Order: sequence, then structure tokens, then C-alpha cells
Amino acid sequence: MTTLSALNDRYAIAGQVTFEAEPNGLVLAKVRNPHASAQICLQGAQVIQWAPLNEHPVIWLSKAAKFMPGKSVRGGVPVCWPWFGPHASDTRFPAHGYARTVEWDVIETAALADGRTLLVFRLRESAPTREQWPHDTPLECRITVGDTLEIELSTKNNTDSTVTITEALHTYFEIGDIGKVSIAGLEDTEYLDKVDGGQRKLQHGPVTIAGEVDRVYLDTRAEVFIEDLELQRKIHISKRGSDSTVVWNPWQAKADKMGDLGEAGFRRMVCVESGNAAENTVTIAPGEEHLLWVSYRVERD
Ligand code: BG6
Repeated sequence: MTTLSALNDRYAIAGQVTFEAEPNGLVLAKVRNPHASAQICLQGAQVIQWAPLNEHPVIWLSKAAKFMPGKSVRGGVPVCWPWFGPHASDTRFPAHGYARTVEWDVIETAALADGRTLLVFRLRESAPTREQWPHDTPLECRITVGDTLEIELSTKNNTDSTVTITEALHTYFEIGDIGKVSIAGLEDTEYLDKVDGGQRKLQHGPVTIAGEVDRVYLDTRAEVFIEDLELQRKIHISKRGSDSTVVWNPWQAKADKMGDLGEAGFRRMVCVESGNAAENTVTIAPGEEHLLWVSYRVERD
């Protein structure tokens, strides 16, 4: 167990990175540099805030988010790993895996020459994580904070056999109003419609949202962008090592049941998740590493 002062002694960067505790004990890395500001919760290595300088926040965090040890924080960039969605066979195991609800260790911070800040985290394994995933597959997350936000998730297979995972960077983007956004870049691709029994459908034109949406777009590797008429900006999402794109908004009724989306929170967020889900599984050979990489940037109209 690293104490807060030991963490600051070793990894704080004067004027750029500090580590602070939330009242209930969760620790946040607070980052500020000439390009942007960000906050990352050490539980889950979860980015909970990122805004380029003089820009409206890009990453949405629910006003009703609960910062509780062992509970996923609603908003930000939860890391879903080593499975996406429900566990394939064991209902005792949590949806979207355990990476988002356990502590990660900081293993590096660096002020880069161009003014950006790098933070590297490694998932801390324990008896409960090994019970759910008895494979030696260290997971690291490299986060680079600048006027773009880059996140790279690295899964190493240190075992003697192939390992298969699903995963996602489950990013909640802040938008002006859900009725005034469209998501481009998924046209003419196939998706599994989870609000219609998982049926396979074809996307016609950009995605617009006027009710609950929960879709896994398959074999989608191109850049996606969220056009936001209200905030008058476009959020560009580039990725590598990701064959699936998940689009999710729970809409009113489901949001009310969830209890941590906040008052009308569903109108201010949309999840566009880069990952490998459903049939887009990732198989990692012994000794190999798989990288899932995303980059987000804002273009102003
Ligand atoms: C999405 C899934 O990625 O995450 C949805 O496709 C799910 O089915 C949503 O409801 C939120 O999941 P959770 O576990 O964070 O409430």
C-alpha cells in the first residue's frame, strides 16, 4: 500500500502533477500543463476529467457520480477488461470486468519536452482478481495529457498458451444536448443492437439518438467524430488495435433506475467506446502484447 505522501514524493511533478485523496479515500492524479488539465482516479486508472486549455470539458463526469472503493465511477473513461459486457459463464463476476474497480499502481510520470504529461499505471493484481482471471497478463495504461488525450492499454501475455480477451475504453463524452449531436464515421457498418435482442443491423448515415441506444458496431477501425451543434465543436476519435465501436446512451427511464446519472444527465453525455467486443475478440499469443490505443481531439466550428 503506497501512502499519499510516498506517491507524491516519487511521482508528483512540480506545477504539473499532484496526487490528492478524495474524502472516501480514492486517490486522484491532478494534471495541469500548458495544453490541458485532467484528473485520473487511481482506482481503475480512470480518467474522470480532461479539457484542453480554454475548452469546455470533453470528458463527462456525472454530477451524481459516487466515488466509492470497489464501485465503478459513472463517467470518465472506465477501462473494461478482460471482458466487455457480462462475463461469458460466471454471473458472480462483474459486468465489463474488474479493471475499473480495483486499484492501479502509478509506475511512471513524465513532463514531456513538448509540454504534455505522461502518466503510466499498472493494474494491481490480488487474490480476488486472480480468482476471476487466473492468467498472467499484466495490464498497463499509458495516458498522455495534452491538447489531445491519448490512452494506450497494453495487455501482455506472459503465459504459455493463447489468451482471449474483450475490452473497451468506455468513454463518456460531454455534449451540449443529446438531441443535437450526430456521430459520423460508422456509416454502412454492421452493428449488434442490444436494445433489440442483439439483432444485426446496417447503419445508414450518421448515428443520431432519440431514445435508448446500445450498439456494438463491428469491424470499425476508421476515425469517428461526434458533431455537437450546441457546443459548436467536433470531437475526433482515432484508434488503433480496436475493431469495435460501442455507442451507448441509456435515455431517461434506464438512467432514472441507475441512480448515478444525475438530473437529466443522459442529455449531456454519449458513450463512444473504442474496443474489441462481441465477435471482435482479441487472441494474444504466448509472449505477445496487444495494444489498444485511442486519441481524442476537439475541432471548433
Ligand atoms: C455499455 C453497454 O458499454 O455500458 C451497456 O453496452 C451498459 O449494455 C453500459 O448498460 C453501462 O454499463 P455499466 O456497467 O457501467 O452500468
